[in-house]
Amino acid sequence: MPRKVNYGIDYDDDYDVYEDDDYHNGDEYEYKNEERVIAPKQEVIKAGVWRCPICTYDNEDSMSECDICGVLRNPLVKFSGNSNRTAANFKRLSSLDMPSSEREKNILIESELGAEGPNSSSASLGRDGRSVVKGRETASDSGSKPEILNSSMSSVSLSSKSRTENANEDKDKSNLQYKPESWMMPDQAEGRLSQLNLAIVGHVDSGKSTLSGRLLHLLGRISQKEMHKYEKEAKQQGKGSFAYAWALDESAEERERGITMTVAVAFFNSKKYHVVLLDSPGHRDFVPNMISGATQADAAILVVDASVGSFEAGLDAIGGQTREHAQLIRSFGVDQIIVVVNKMDVVEYSQERFDMIKQKLGTFLRSCGFKDSSVLWIPVSAMENQNLVATPSDTRLFTWFHGPCLLDAIDSLQLPARDYSKPLLMPICDIIKSQSQGQVSACGKLETGAIRTGSKVLVMPSRVVATVRSMERDSQVCSIARAGDNVTVNLQGIEGNRVTAGGVLCHPDFLVHVANQLELKILVLDVTVPILIGSQLELHVHHAKEAARVVKILSLLDPKTGKVTKKSPRCILAKQNAVVEVVLQGSVCVEEYAKSRALGRVSLRSSGRTVAVGLVSQIMKTQD
Ligand code: GTP
Ligand code: MG
Repeated sequence: MPRKVNYGIDYDDDYDVYEDDDYHNGDEYEYKNEERVIAPKQEVIKAGVWRCPICTYDNEDSMSECDICGVLRNPLVKFSGNSNRTAANFKRLSSLDMPSSEREKNILIESELGAEGPNSSSASLGRDGRSVVKGRETASDSGSKPEILNSSMSSVSLSSKSRTENANEDKDKSNLQYKPESWMMPDQAEGRLSQLNLAIVGHVDSGKSTLSGRLLHLLGRISQKEMHKYEKEAKQQGKGSFAYAWALDESAEERERGITMTVAVAFFNSKKYHVVLLDSPGHRDFVPNMISGATQADAAILVVDASVGSFEAGLDAIGGQTREHAQLIRSFGVDQIIVVVNKMDVVEYSQERFDMIKQKLGTFLRSCGFKDSSVLWIPVSAMENQNLVATPSDTRLFTWFHGPCLLDAIDSLQLPARDYSKPLLMPICDIIKSQSQGQVSACGKLETGAIRTGSKVLVMPSRVVATVRSMERDSQVCSIARAGDNVTVNLQGIEGNRVTAGGVLCHPDFLVHVANQLELKILVLDVTVPILIGSQLELHVHHAKEAARVVKILSLLDPKTGKVTKKSPRCILAKQNAVVEVVLQGSVCVEEYAKSRALGRVSLRSSGRTVAVGLVSQIMKTQD
């Protein structure tokens, strides 16, 4: 079975002390269509790139709006390229057409913060391809993409020079100086399916693992024999209904408690993709693990339980993980989701219930910055195998639902653009040490660039150069890995203790910053306690987590224009956008968002809840 990695529990007894506040009602999240700011004049700095005159980010030519701040390119350029960042990211499926009014509602934030997607969980896959990577409970970044953050970003120059006090200028070599070698580019002739990293998220007990197990079984990744074994063992422990979930929930504690605690990684091939499933825990105590997995996702399946009371619990403002997970994945840049309305058998496959869920959750998702056109709604029953890999057979469902089954919906997702031609960046999700052979391996997803056997990599924050001895992808030895791939990289020439989860493998000439003081642009979520100077928070960035203290609140930003509305406010309340400075207890590998999205997205948590999401606008102090 899949390997799971545990990073320790992040319990917080105070979690329950939060009380609802005036802002909690998801229905109040109505965001109005906002006028897009049109860039005064587009500056072409080099072929294939246009520079946003507002935030100075260098956008690919195929972008019609700034990927960072959402400002429209001026003059508008029609493009037919395959960039899927700003266009609707799903193929439209006729059966799921939405009312045009809904379709047109785009929320500004989405284009900026959620523009791209991916971070997938690293994880080395198990023998049978169902390896489980447990996300780190402590780890990584979260943060949901702020509802409003995005527009506020337009007023702030994200590409302004970092005020790094003692950064080594040499290390800050521009990516423009980097010249990728030809082997780094994908070779169409290889004929391999593109990898889609798909996070399965949602409230506890909504059926994520059952759904994942069912899919794997239906697609031949779990043999009949293995399935029998799970069924028998689950029954013996009086947990017969968890048989499919057991394929993903491997540990004794998970099985005993009937909950997923760490992220399980498995894979299967669809017609179009090599799909890497990241089955996340739904229990609120394990949100940091969920973050570590989902931060690597290209797209997500948000599973909701259709049963009366359960769906509502998931949307609850206090402990509702449908809510927190949706905000988090949006903050990771995931902008395509499939909402799987599961357990439809419990509600007699009621169309009325499905429509009600779609309406309520749809409103909330819109407020998080998901475009209607990038959300697919699929009613299923994982338990009764309805609408998973084939058209439903239950008349109660197929009489009214004529959309795609889940597998077809997955194939309709679009791959985010991959940055093959940038220097290597691979946040380390997990470490495997072989005592006997004295070997150390780093697991993770390549965010940018490529590596091959024999490549030299710089292991950060240790700053030790190591050589790639070998690599594995999906338990198979591979010689090259490129952006988007989840791999286990066996390193030589480095001691085991110099490689750490939360660290980064990078190109020896293009090292990442290691910093302990950051300026962040954040959107505060539904909190009852305001953020003040001195607030102690937990900062998550890719797979790293560090205690953070707010030392300055520089300004509040207008959510629509991003302009400063107030300088040096005393506190930040729910739903406000702000620029803050934080000092970290230890250092983390990080980049400004304008330079690296994967290493520049953050989330801030406190008392077991995500209180704010955002991005690194400036690195204030590095370790060097
Ligand atoms: P966590 O990982 O702990 O958040 O839970 P989960 O979302 O993975 O849920 P899991 O798959 O463990 O399932 C929880 C319970 O829901 C189990 O008892 C499943 O049998 C049940 N369940 C899952 N899918 C369905 C379904 O389609 N119909 C019904 N009736 N029960 C289901
Ligand atoms: Mg589970």
